[in-house]
Amino acid sequence: MLSTFQEFSKQYKDITEKQLIEYVSRLHSPAVLKEAMAYSLNAGGKRIRPLLIYAVLSSFGKDPAAGIPAACAIEMIHTYSLIHDDLPSMDDDDLRRGKPTNHKVYGEANAILAGDALLTHSFQLIAEAGHPSVTPEMKLELISQMSKASGAEGMVGGQIADLEGENKELSLTELEYIHEHKTGKILAFSVLAGAVLSGAGEIERKHLERFSFHLGLAFQIQDDILDIEGSEEKIGKPVGSDLDNHKSTYPSLLTLQGAKKKLSEHIGAAHEELRNAGFESGLLHDITDMIGNRDH
Ligand code: IPE
Ligand code: IPE
Ligand code: MG
Ligand code: MG
Ligand code: MG
Repeated sequence: MLSTFQEFSKQYKDITEKQLIEYVSRLHSPAVLKEAMAYSLNAGGKRIRPLLIYAVLSSFGKDPAAGIPAACAIEMIHTYSLIHDDLPSMDDDDLRRGKPTNHKVYGEANAILAGDALLTHSFQLIAEAGHPSVTPEMKLELISQMSKASGAEGMVGGQIADLEGENKELSLTELEYIHEHKTGKILAFSVLAGAVLSGAGEIERKHLERFSFHLGLAFQIQDDILDIEGSEEKIGKPVGSDLDNHKSTYPSLLTLQGAKKKLSEHIGAAHEELRNAGFESGLLHDITDMIGNRDH
């Protein structure tokens, strides 16, 4: 029998995936562009960022459906970041979500443009969100925060620092900056988006902000661990990519055992924030455990 959490994730994962296809199919664009966008969006993926938005809405007793456009928007930005991350000039990987990477199928130029189109379209989705509970003020805050989380002060800043850190011995503080930005900021935005759409108060937002900081670091530490210990079949991407690219990672800095200790510290701190937050957070505890224990 499925648990409440499993049912919730399955239900909203399906809704998100259908909606993503629908959004791309509506575009009046050259067929190859739509195909390349849809290829990576439909390749599977855990949809953790959408799930975080829905789980926060549900925690505040709101209709998770109010989060569909924002959830699809952040999944498009995440997918664009993966397409570009895999390019030969970045991590140079050939497998993603269990399928050949976008540039392997469509060529580099089309992959770059498919990424550009996914990024740009995400802002349109939020601007045009139709749920009756989503106000123009909410949309403005979402657009502003999503832009910050994805750009120079967020994911892109982290990706640059990640590339600059290749072949170098970084300090833990430098590595934390990379992980918090390249991965943490998009996850933190997802949590914040749920809070904005729920009309959460200042104190609740503070707890959620600290929660998502720990969740984001935990997520990328586990990604680093799976790059060593994971199975290619399960993670759907090449094992050993970080080693090949001489990346600084938590295991390379702290050993595998040290990275696992850090992971469990951040998972513990994330749970602690939720316990102190003063609202119903069962689903968020479940997502936290899933991130701590994931094998893909
Ligand atoms: C992979 O993200 C890239 C990182 C930011 C660590 P996910 O592990 O969420 O990838 P998908 O979406 O499930 O494919
Ligand atoms: C990527 O980190 C973070 C992104 C912004 C895409 P990684 O380079 O470790 O992600 P994977 O392992 O290729 O998914
Ligand atoms: Mg990378
Ligand atoms: Mg990579
Ligand atoms: Mg990785």
